[in-house]
Amino acid sequence: MAIKLYLLLFLAFFTFSKADLALLKLKPKEIQMTVYFQDYSGGPNATVVEITGPSHGLLSFTKFGAIFCTDDPITKGFEESSAQIARAQGIYVTSALDGSNTHVLISIVFINDEYKGSTLEIQGTSAQFERVREVAVVGGTGKFRLARGYATFETLSYDHASHYALIQCNLTVLHF
Ligand SMILES: *[C@@H]1O[C@H](CO)[C@@H](O)[C@H](O)[C@H]1NC(C)=O
Ligand SMILES: *[C@@H]1O[C@H](CO)[C@@H](O)[C@H](O)[C@H]1NC(C)=O
Repeated sequence: MAIKLYLLLFLAFFTFSKADLALLKLKPKEIQMTVYFQDYSGGPNATVVEITGPSHGLLSFTKFGAIFCTDDPITKGFEESSAQIARAQGIYVTSALDGSNTHVLISIVFINDEYKGSTLEIQGTSAQFERVREVAVVGGTGKFRLARGYATFETLSYDHASHYALIQCNLTVLHF
């Protein structure tokens, strides 16, 4: 009796579509990937711009409320000439009063043969001046439907003159 009532309540509150139920029965697959963000925060081919307008020409990463738009090439290897497999498209906002954290909202938009058209959604706060930053993978589309996981970001090198940063990104993702 109690079980029946529980089931009725359960069915009343959760109405999954048939497709959702089919997905829930599947075992999630885990993937691990190391990729590289080729990031130019200045110069003629900048891949990051400040939406709010930089105060002195340089991007104000430490200014609370500064908003940036990015479209970084993502490569398979660390060399800039390495095969491009995706783009990192999105925005981030300096979200800590003292400028230490940025809030990241970025889609990894795949363009390689294996995952073309699929995306991973990266969202969360990033301790932007730490050596290693960790941000959640909160979802995905295409081959990464219902994805969840985490991504670490480590800046391997930065060149002041060309504003070029090489960022290693390790993705650990469960998806169906
Ligand atoms: C910017 O991109 C153009 C076109 O791809 C290229 O010819 C030029 O060398 C690049 N400039 C720099 C400073 O990387
Ligand atoms: C990311 O993966 C690479 C290659 O496996 C590894 O050398 C590196 O230490 C990892 N970075 C982090 C922050 O875990």
